[in-house]
Amino acid sequence: HTYVIIMAGGVGTRFWPFSRTSYPKQFHDVLGTGRTLLQQTADRFDGVCPPEHIYIVTSALYKNLCQEQLPQLTDDQVLCEPIARNTAPCIAYACYKIAQRDPQANIIVAPADHIILKEEEFKRTIRTALDATAEQDILVTLGIQPSRPDTGYGYIQYVSDEGTEESGSAVRKVKSFMEKPNLDLARQFVDSGEFVWNAGIFVWNVQAIISAFTTHLPEVAEIFEEGKAAYYTNNEKAFIDKAYSLTKSISIDNGVMEKAHNVYVVLSDFGWSDLGTWKSLYEASDKNADQNVVDGHVMLYDTKNCIIKTPKNRLVAINGLDGFIVAEYDNVLMICRKEDEQKVKAFVADAKEQG
Ligand code: GDD
Ligand code: MG
Repeated sequence: HTYVIIMAGGVGTRFWPFSRTSYPKQFHDVLGTGRTLLQQTADRFDGVCPPEHIYIVTSALYKNLCQEQLPQLTDDQVLCEPIARNTAPCIAYACYKIAQRDPQANIIVAPADHIILKEEEFKRTIRTALDATAEQDILVTLGIQPSRPDTGYGYIQYVSDEGTEESGSAVRKVKSFMEKPNLDLARQFVDSGEFVWNAGIFVWNVQAIISAFTTHLPEVAEIFEEGKAAYYTNNEKAFIDKAYSLTKSISIDNGVMEKAHNVYVVLSDFGWSDLGTWKSLYEASDKNADQNVVDGHVMLYDTKNCIIKTPKNRLVAINGLDGFIVAEYDNVLMICRKEDEQKVKAFVADAKEQG
């Protein structure tokens, strides 16, 4: 009864120009391992569930990319969204569809753009979460010890003495969940020691998430519930096109996790990192003696603390840079101070205007 939903519809704007609308980061071999982030995500569930229980939810634009990269998937396993409506509708679509096939399904929801260094530990944590959800109607998320007051994550406050120990991992009752707090709050949360980051990886029984949708996002629940007659038929595409034109855009974090009272967190440590920004890739990558991360054909002089990612067929000479991102992809070259990386979103908006 175990199923996996991989969310692979994001555009990854903060990773421009490497991540583009036409070819977002999850379809790249970001770490140079020979497998793209999407492929690595699917590989990670080898042995956790049968391959025919893996569903990808993505934009219709990326359907071919998904099938090229994961040829084992049948047409029915790639769910296509006509427009992006953030993660709540994405999860609702897949969960209501799976519910019809298997009303007792236990579902793991995973983003397609994370790296996980300790794969075995990850699998163990997932099993812990599955065991916990098998016993009660709860929504389980995986929590990571925070290392900095990052405002790009959800923060989970847990009750340290309420919960269970399952096969070595602590499952704790969640007291509060706050998605992307401001810097002041993030600092307080990290200093208090009572919070972990939301890894954005969820585990639940299909009935538990459906009842959470019904309670906290009834307008979304109603739309996808109506698909019962259409899922797995030739009418599915027409139904989904209509559903997406009606549904609001909201994340699962804001729409469900912040509101629900039956949330538990598994305290986890599996070498997790969300490759959301250039800085996160810099931090997750091996550095040379001058603390540079280099991927490309590059000559460096008096250059340190940089992340440089350029096409292999172009020789790049750099002199005197400290703490910069140098990224070239396709027809775009970006040079930006690492500490200014939050401006990347603005560059993308401006670039769109330039056509
Ligand atoms: N199919 C589909 N449709 N996928 C989507 C959509 C959509 O409209 N929007 C986002 N995704 C996918 C992304 O590709 C990514 O794999 C995943 O859903 C999460 O979306 P992000 O946009 O990367 O979310 P985030 O990183 O800002 O925040 C989430 O993850 C953090 C940890 O990485 C939240 O869950 C935070 O609470 C969490 O800390
Ligand atoms: Mg993310």
